[in-house]
Amino acid sequence: MINLILLGLPGAGKGTVSERIVDKYHLTHISTGDMFREAMANKTKVGLEAKSYIDKGNLVPDEVTAKLVEERLNQPDIKEGFILDGFPRTTKQAELLDGILERVNKPLSNVISLDVNEQTLIERLSARFMCKNCGATYNKLTKMPKVEGTCDRCGGHEFYQREDDKPEVVKNRLEVNEKMNAPLKDFYEKKGLLTVIDGEQTPEKVFKDLDAVLSRD
Ligand code: AP5
Ligand code: MG
Ligand code: ZN
Repeated sequence: MINLILLGLPGAGKGTVSERIVDKYHLTHISTGDMFREAMANKTKVGLEAKSYIDKGNLVPDEVTAKLVEERLNQPDIKEGFILDGFPRTTKQAELLDGILERVNKPLSNVISLDVNEQTLIERLSARFMCKNCGATYNKLTKMPKVEGTCDRCGGHEFYQREDDKPEVVKNRLEVNEKMNAPLKDFYEKKGLLTVIDGEQTPEKVFKDLDAVLSRD
């Protein structure tokens, strides 16, 4: 069984490659960012709390995020394996996750870090736009919908830019995440679980490298 963590700074391509992994391996995709955006859209208690952090590009407190993940990992659909996209992102969260995985009895099989340099991240985030209806992700430079103005996935016609992709927020978001990134990679390197993949490559090549790691075990 594959229980995977995907590490990577904002815009590294975690969501993009997750879609391809899910197609091939039928894993359950757990993105804390997606879960928070859903909670914000539904104006739940967690959503309202998270919004004040997310809109500024700060991290939601570790305990709040870990609780959300623990609830998610207790759902029956993770039986066949899961991808954690965007969690953990601090060593504190990584420690909390160790406890959660022990309680749900799901050992990690791999931790993969998608490494991308800062200039590329800034370019990708400023060019990203999303379908308002289904959340599908596009990019003005590299991934336009096949039919102009129409979402490939749901046929929707309305698109938006994420609040945290605005230039003033991106700067802080990158700073905040960069600070946490090296210690987090060390944490999993020491456990012998970490593989680094060059996230500057095309989406096809990134998937190919990741697929090679997953089919190795
Ligand atoms: P989250 O939604 O997870 O944002 P993020 O980590 O900043 O990552 P992104 O979703 O922006 O990037 P991605 O790596 O998925 O890239 P994508 O595939 O879209 O979290 C949002 C916020 O929630 C956080 O800032 C924080 O406040 C809060 N939060 C979430 N988790 C938390 C946690 N654990 N603790 C505390 N707070 C938390 O790709 C980006 C763009 O590039 C797209 O346009 C895509 O088309 C394009 N692209 C992708 N791959 C390639 C490629 N190989 N080549 C060219 N273009 C590409
Ligand atoms: Mg994402
Ligand atoms: Zn759509």
